[in-house]
Amino acid sequence: MNAPLLTAHGITGGYGKLDILHEVSLGVHAGEIVSVIGPNGAGKSTAFKTIVGFLRPRSGRVVFNGEEITGLRPDVVLRRGLAYVPQGRLVFAQMTVLENLEMGAYTVADRAKVAAALQSVYTLFPVLFERRRQKAGTMSGGEQQMVAIGRALMTSPRLILLDEPSLGLAPKFVTLIFDKLVALRRAGYTLMLVEQNATRALQIADRAYVLELGRNRFEGAGTALLADPEVKRLYLGG
Ligand SMILES: Nc1ncnc2c1ncn2[C@@H]1O[C@H](COP(=O)(O)OP(=O)(O)OP(=O)(O)O)[C@@H](O)[C@H]1O
Ligand SMILES: [Mg+2]
Repeated sequence: MNAPLLTAHGITGGYGKLDILHEVSLGVHAGEIVSVIGPNGAGKSTAFKTIVGFLRPRSGRVVFNGEEITGLRPDVVLRRGLAYVPQGRLVFAQMTVLENLEMGAYTVADRAKVAAALQSVYTLFPVLFERRRQKAGTMSGGEQQMVAIGRALMTSPRLILLDEPSLGLAPKFVTLIFDKLVALRRAGYTLMLVEQNATRALQIADRAYVLELGRNRFEGAGTALLADPEVKRLYLGG
């Protein structure tokens, strides 16, 4: 197999002096969907925040696209091609959909690139084109999540980290968001996501990791973890 696009090697760290992650390792190859699941408080969001530079690990390394990015600032990491959609679908409520998307491209100077990225966002999410002049705060939860994902796509990233993209959405939007994630991979994007909805996350994943108490617990193909009796019993409710 080719070298991974992203590797987090033995990450230990957390908040201040308190370690939440204990030698956590995660990897993503180009073209994959990788899912990270695990109970509340397992450190999933902390792992993503550490990879994208909001937290500095106490030890361990993050290598992206062949270069070490450990400890780099989030905006620098973004410019290298690693986008991040945080938990809680944060949109600028008073700004229009289009303005939100343009904000996503603040690191991109080349206007032609921004225009091309906007076109690909509208192709993936036609509703965002229809609603481009609507204030983002007046959209439904599922539509706001599409704005948040669309904004991350505006830098044409090589890898997108999504923290809980389906959290708190009505069932039909949960299905829509998972369908969109599969469509993103089909369009050539590489994704790593954290999800509460473990069954669905494993169904769409090429590979997946289970974190528990800040440590790696299981990893394997999405289908293998779905079929694993222990994973089923512990994490899939049955
Ligand atoms: N800003 C913070 N300061 C101190 N501790 C924090 C902070 N954010 C999270 N923690 C702690 O870190 C641990 C892991 O939290 P984290 O948010 O990474 O878990 P998670 O796996 O994403 O959980 P969830 O499924 O609930 O989103 C928890 O014990 C949490 O209380
Ligand atoms: Mg979380």
